[in-house]
Amino acid sequence: MAFKKGFLWGGATAANQFEGAWDEDGKGPSVPDHIRGGTVDTPRLYDEVIDPEVYYPSHRAVDFYHHYKEDIALYGEMGFRCFRLSINWSRIYPTGMEETPNEKGLAFYHTVFAECAKYQIEPLVTISHYELPWGLSEKYNGWAGREVISHFMRYAETLFKEYKDEVRYWLTFNEINNGVQSSGRILSLGMKGIDHKPMFGIEETDEEKSDRFTALHHQFVASALAVKKGHEINPEFKIGMMTIGHPVYAYTCNPDDVKAMNDEMNLRMFFCADVQVRGHYPFFAKRFFEENNIHVRTLPEDEQILREGTVDFLSFSYYMSSASSADPNVTKAQGNMFAGVKNPYLKASEWGWQIDPKGLRILLNTLYARYEVPLMVVENGLGAVDERSEDGKFHDTYRIDYMRSHIEAMAEAVKDGVDLMGYTMWGCTDLVSASTGEMKKRYGLVYVDLDNDGNGDLHRERKDSFYWYQKVIKTNGEDLA
Ligand code: BG6
Repeated sequence: MAFKKGFLWGGATAANQFEGAWDEDGKGPSVPDHIRGGTVDTPRLYDEVIDPEVYYPSHRAVDFYHHYKEDIALYGEMGFRCFRLSINWSRIYPTGMEETPNEKGLAFYHTVFAECAKYQIEPLVTISHYELPWGLSEKYNGWAGREVISHFMRYAETLFKEYKDEVRYWLTFNEINNGVQSSGRILSLGMKGIDHKPMFGIEETDEEKSDRFTALHHQFVASALAVKKGHEINPEFKIGMMTIGHPVYAYTCNPDDVKAMNDEMNLRMFFCADVQVRGHYPFFAKRFFEENNIHVRTLPEDEQILREGTVDFLSFSYYMSSASSADPNVTKAQGNMFAGVKNPYLKASEWGWQIDPKGLRILLNTLYARYEVPLMVVENGLGAVDERSEDGKFHDTYRIDYMRSHIEAMAEAVKDGVDLMGYTMWGCTDLVSASTGEMKKRYGLVYVDLDNDGNGDLHRERKDSFYWYQKVIKTNGEDLA
């Protein structure tokens, strides 16, 4: 058996892409509630003011808020042992700044955890998954303001105390390393965008770059404080970090390409993980900041906070890899939050993401060698267009093939000696895409009747991948046929 007993098989979601009910029961607006839908070639636009005439995909999403019983029952039927979900911060603290939490918001997640308990499903909670309360973005330019740390701590402490007997596994920030590049400004760091302009591709001045790395530093401090506080509240808690897992290969063996690869790996894969797992900035940070004219605003006590708040495990999303080259003219590939150079040895998804199961084994080995803490793959999957077949069903063999090859790669990594805790595939129930805001791009084992414009009755249907994954879980990953 490759996978250990109690391996956490399951699925993953994020509140802003899944829950809907964006203004119900006291919930305040969050940053993604201000972002329009797009497509693979039309960028998502950021609106300062929510326009009542515009369809914002997060507002209704796929309405988990009113379908949670049915959705969790389907996870129970598949045999999930783990369900990764995020808590919508502005459902608990509507502007992020209230002194007391919204009781209705707290009650909602109690009912969700009670449903999970019915099916012996362990919740894995992401405290902040691309959904900063809009109030904090407005007032402080998101995480660029140090004040957000104390607002976050009030929120995190509320969750730890409230759900102390219902939740054991926690993640502080989703894909924290998105903040090392400008595309992380809005979603990841909650910073202000430019009205009616795309949320990605923002050009930054040196000062804005310094603000961004300061915002990222504030997330590091907040995460470390939360880890410490969580352990005080319940020493049984396992609190992890979450990063984008995206290995980079040198495009050729030209040392210049290898150097480019090394720089990308350092910044993308190791910069944040070094801080959160080892408890200090990496050795290369000083030169990187100096050469890029980045000035991070820190306080003297921060070093100790980071040292004392290291995580229990390292989790990551894994969709693709890319190559790296010193030649600016080589062909580029599309990507998740990170893109890169096209790799001629790999095929890509319909959205241009390069499919690379071996890259998952390589990355698991690389991260385990460097950090020696348990690892968990908390997102993985294929975004694809699902068409109903003539028999009325969804035969998503392409999704099964994708997942099979990645689970095989994980099994190899475990045999290599990697300590792997679990696997929660992304978007177990179809949900809104984070990068494009589409419904057309689906990851689910369960289909949801909803299109890009919000048409559909939201009913759920099992795809072929549902039954396949049920068997995988039942055999603890032995039967992947
Ligand atoms: C990760 C995010 O980047 O990838 C998720 O944590 C996101 O929120 C997932 O949905 C897949 O990306 P996309 O853009 O296809 O939804």
